[in-house]
Amino acid sequence: MFSKKEINIIRDKFPILKEKVYSNKLVYVDNAATTQKPIQVINASKYFYSKVNSNIHRGVYYLSQKSTTFVENTRKKLKKFINAKYSSEILFTKGTTESINLIATSLSNVIQKGDEIIISYLEHHSNIVPWQILCKNKNAILKIIPIKKDGFLDLEKFENLISKKTKIVSISHISNVLGIVNPIKYIVKISHSYGSMVLVDGAQASSDLCLNVQDLDVDFYTFSAHKMYGPTGIGMLYGKKEILNNLYPYQFGGEMIKEVSFKKTTYSDLPFKFEAGTPNIEGIFVWGEALNFIEDIGLLKIQIYKKNLIKYALKKLSYIKEIKFYGCKITDFSKKSSIISFNLKNKHCFDIGCILDKLGISVRTGSMCAQPLMNFFKVTGMVRLSFSIYNTFEEIDYIFESLLKVRKILK
Ligand SMILES: Cc1ncc(COP(=O)(O)O)c(C=O)c1O
Repeated sequence: MFSKKEINIIRDKFPILKEKVYSNKLVYVDNAATTQKPIQVINASKYFYSKVNSNIHRGVYYLSQKSTTFVENTRKKLKKFINAKYSSEILFTKGTTESINLIATSLSNVIQKGDEIIISYLEHHSNIVPWQILCKNKNAILKIIPIKKDGFLDLEKFENLISKKTKIVSISHISNVLGIVNPIKYIVKISHSYGSMVLVDGAQASSDLCLNVQDLDVDFYTFSAHKMYGPTGIGMLYGKKEILNNLYPYQFGGEMIKEVSFKKTTYSDLPFKFEAGTPNIEGIFVWGEALNFIEDIGLLKIQIYKKNLIKYALKKLSYIKEIKFYGCKITDFSKKSSIISFNLKNKHCFDIGCILDKLGISVRTGSMCAQPLMNFFKVTGMVRLSFSIYNTFEEIDYIFESLLKVRKILK
């Protein structure tokens, strides 16, 4: 557990936290949307463009070799971060959304009429729409794992849904609305026994869980840098080497080719086969610095601190009798990330969000890119608090006091 002094030292590394919002101290609790960036990440961006900027893998000259080394170092860091077997299993993408689109597009060469794809009720639109389109184009069938009233996946129903026709199960590791951690190892075991692959959307997990793709035995795993103190527009897709080797490329052009003639093209080896064109070089380099930031503090320590924040927040906010939590009936906190979604009885989530904003508090409101889940709970939206390493218990007290004000104003 961090002391107050240690948290203040960490907070000092985030310049944006000193910003005022309508003359109030900024309380930023929309970390599930994107996290703020520490100074070393901000400085890395300036360093790259001042000292290194050049294209990668193409130049024999000093700068190009330097930027190539930086990019490949981040790949190696990511390999270690998720415990992949090979660096070449790490593909750079624009983010989680592009990673899922990459796999769905590549699989369009494999999926046939009558094949089945399984997702769940909990998914972010990024993990719904690409599969919906693929199924529509190929006359395949999209099946949805239902959830129970408490927000947990109905695993019995999952076992009834899966069949030998299932080609891929694509599921979030942590729901971006409910913060529930899904039992990935179990889902993988069942899926593999039917010969289905598994893709895990780890957008909400990468800053919350210590990941081990070999232990999870997932076929694909993806997340975005910007939710783990890194820049926007860059993410990664892990895929098992033997699967990626057999998969059709996603985009075509420079970098992903071995030989090109007007008759025929052969493709590069992994990972470059899936990295057509000039990537977000600066973003990749800067992400490496964000990974250093996490490593310096320790992901496990971050996780424990955030768990304490969430326990405190749940306890404190439950004193508000009009509050309705979603996915928060939790006794085992290993199954809950640092996300709390709620509504206040007879109050609109946007009204709550707007008043909180005027008090300096940044929360997410609305459907959170998960409209089917909103329909399940028969609401049009929710208010979401999501914590990060720089949030404090005092901020939770302030949010509590502010919600009492909201209640009074909206009476
Ligand atoms: C669970 C989940 N999946 C996918 C995404 C999409 O991530 P990105 O917008 O970085 O591609 C998000 C973003 O909020 C998410 O929370």
